[in-house]
Amino acid sequence: MVLGAGAAGLYCAARAAEAGVRVLLLDHAERVAEKVRISGGGRCNFTNLHTSPAQFLSDNPHFCRSALARHTPQDFLARLRSHGITWHEKHRGQLFCDQGSERIIQMLLDDCRAAGVQHWQPCAVHSVAHEVGRGFVLHTARGTLAATALVVATGGLSIPKIGASDFGHRLAKQFGHAVVPPRPALVPLTFDAAAWAPFSALAGLALPVRMASGEGRFDEDLLFTHRGLSGPAVLQISSYWRPGQALRVDLAAGTDLGPALRQAKAGARHRLGAELGHHLPQRLADTWLALHGPSASLPLAELKDSDLTGLARGLSGWQLLPTGSEGWRKAEVTAGGVCTRALDSRSLQSRQRPGLYFIGEVLDVTGWLGGYNFQWAWASAAACAGALATALVSG
Ligand code: FDA
Repeated sequence: MVLGAGAAGLYCAARAAEAGVRVLLLDHAERVAEKVRISGGGRCNFTNLHTSPAQFLSDNPHFCRSALARHTPQDFLARLRSHGITWHEKHRGQLFCDQGSERIIQMLLDDCRAAGVQHWQPCAVHSVAHEVGRGFVLHTARGTLAATALVVATGGLSIPKIGASDFGHRLAKQFGHAVVPPRPALVPLTFDAAAWAPFSALAGLALPVRMASGEGRFDEDLLFTHRGLSGPAVLQISSYWRPGQALRVDLAAGTDLGPALRQAKAGARHRLGAELGHHLPQRLADTWLALHGPSASLPLAELKDSDLTGLARGLSGWQLLPTGSEGWRKAEVTAGGVCTRALDSRSLQSRQRPGLYFIGEVLDVTGWLGGYNFQWAWASAAACAGALATALVSG
């Protein structure tokens, strides 16, 4: 029995059924694989060619190694090829589906049908218990069912309106597993409204930056919004950021701004604001100078070297204290989740309750932005399907 017909659940159900396992797939939502549907702006960034354990966060960082190594992006691409699906690379190894995310869903469903997976959706699960002799007993909206093995693929908490629930976390606790406290990740960060007021007029402005917080550090684009910061740089850093921690932003990433400003000063007739506009978007340069000085209208030649050095330092080491994030409504993923320490990393099976498996985002394995989370869904699903086949077919 596989619970959750999202990326991981569909992939696991199909792979296990192809290997000869009898599979029933259940999901409580009206529509199948909603997160695949909305992913990558409808184009589904389904993997990343550069996938390695380094792009994943977890309290148990080595856990993801085995599954990722045994089902690589190339393995998933082979599957797409066999369905005639084509793709393109956008940015840093990110692969998107040419035919759109619906085509990926169709492939997942076609594989399930071809392999004989039974699929009940919508079907709410009211309770799960384990009984000696019967295995896992589930009370569902369509009656009571028993299964030898139970795969929990119910995902994370983000976007509750399309079916996300904490079911997997509760089930894990019921069977004695710890849950690493879940928190929204890959999410825009917000700031105190009064402190942010001078920057809210910059909403829509984007620029490349270097951003750091905690152990995270990314060179990506930053986007100003009315309430705070978004864009790939912030989404990435949000997975590392913890409340109370500051962000450090280099707004002039790639430029040695101090020497550049001091050099420009020699013989320059133009004004500071115009010169800074050569290094930053003009609106940002004007806002920064209005807030921190020196005046944008001062001729560059009249400024002391120490003023220019101070200005450059401020811009390349901007420290900000977010007050929060846009939360589950906007988070692309959940950081934290079912603790992996009591699971076998090759099979994804519980060591405490044999026959119980956890795959995909429900686990405390969180990928960076860029297709890594789907690669984890496919890889963990494939590892689990292989283990199910060994236990239930060959075993
Ligand atoms: P997933 O969430 O896909 O599926 C879980 C399933 O379980 C759902 O169908 C749900 O209805 C079901 N379920 C939940 N509770 C249940 C219950 N109590 N009973 C029965 N069923 C239940 N990643 C990436 O790599 N590239 C990308 O482009 C994107 N883009 C993206 C955009 C947006 C807007 C979001 C929100 C997320 C992404 N992601 C992404 C992340 C990616 O979608 C996510 O990591 C995977 O879908 C996780 O796959 P799972 O199968 O683990 O969970």
